[in-house]
Amino acid sequence: MAEYSPEQARAQLDRLWARGTAFLGTQVAIMGGAMSWVSERHLVSALSNAGGFGVIACGSMGPDLLAKEIAGTQALTNKPFGVNLITMHPQLDDLVRVCLEAKVGHVVLAGGIPPGNAVRAVKDGGVKLIAFAPALVLAKRLVRSGADALVIEGSEAGGHIGPVSLTVLAQEILPHIKDVPVFVAGGLGRGDAILAYLEMGASGVQLGTRFAAAKESIAHPNFKKAFIRAAARDALPSIQLDERFPVIPVRGLVNEGTKRFLAHQAETLRKFQSGELTKDAAQLDIEHFWAGALRRAVIEGDVESGSVMAGQSVGMVTAEQPVAEIIRELVDQAVAALIARHVPSSPQAA
Ligand SMILES: Cc1cc2nc3c(=O)[nH]c(=O)nc-3n(C[C@H](O)[C@H](O)[C@H](O)COP(=O)(O)O)c2cc1C
Repeated sequence: MAEYSPEQARAQLDRLWARGTAFLGTQVAIMGGAMSWVSERHLVSALSNAGGFGVIACGSMGPDLLAKEIAGTQALTNKPFGVNLITMHPQLDDLVRVCLEAKVGHVVLAGGIPPGNAVRAVKDGGVKLIAFAPALVLAKRLVRSGADALVIEGSEAGGHIGPVSLTVLAQEILPHIKDVPVFVAGGLGRGDAILAYLEMGASGVQLGTRFAAAKESIAHPNFKKAFIRAAARDALPSIQLDERFPVIPVRGLVNEGTKRFLAHQAETLRKFQSGELTKDAAQLDIEHFWAGALRRAVIEGDVESGSVMAGQSVGMVTAEQPVAEIIRELVDQAVAALIARHVPSSPQAA
């Protein structure tokens, strides 16, 4: 078999994610998934400067704060980056306007099917719109309504999750969505896995967990240490105790907080059953349990009672590495996997 060089393998990888890199305007089709409190100017600019695509997590920021964060990021990189807006934010229209005024190239609308007026505003402003597709029917609907790219995120991911794994979502969606690039997310920690999804038809990938503990991440040292210590099995979805009181599943590291959340639900349920709380008040009480908890973990380092959102790929976080090193590692693993296929098999193995 002819020699297959690392350069040929890299060229093949570049062909596989060409649609993704063209869409993002990057060297590699690796997006840093927006993470509230974590994905601010330093991590976002580091990702973009390393050839990937950083995304600012707007989270609960208001328009003024978002404008400052965008300007701060633009001061640290002249490469493309995006902004992730949560669709239920009460000031969504103003946040879109801020992105348009700051000439952000890509807006990600997350947290539900984006409202028509926000979609129109993004598109009319000439900005590329990225949306999350949790199922094939919704993927088709999003493409029809103008999404320029989709992210499909499996339940392996950190943060708020849907019920279906990336293994299944990819099979359900990738063969049928050809009009726009599709980026896959959830549980990705190695380049060989990235390669496999590109070969299935993905145009690129989105990773969160592996970048959360990066050197450039402003997350508290306790938060990073918790990531480095944790195994995949430590990153579990939040548990709902009673179907009358829905809990949005969030994947994170099990800690005192997650145990207390169960006790809190049980106590709230008892108060509802005894008539001390109405159904609405009990639901609010459950929802408020985690208010401010992600900030407490990420910024203050309270990894015991705070919310340490993390994906199952947390087991593949083994050190605090610079973003550029993580990206290089991912690319090298994909290239190595391509080269391994061209090694002639030994007579014994044949
Ligand atoms: C700490 C943390 C916070 C996150 N916050 C957000 C968020 O604010 N908005 C969002 O769309 N996704 C959020 N995510 C999901 C990521 O953007 C990304 O899609 C996910 O981490 C990919 O899966 P992985 O963690 O297995 O790499 C968050 C993930 C983590 C780990």
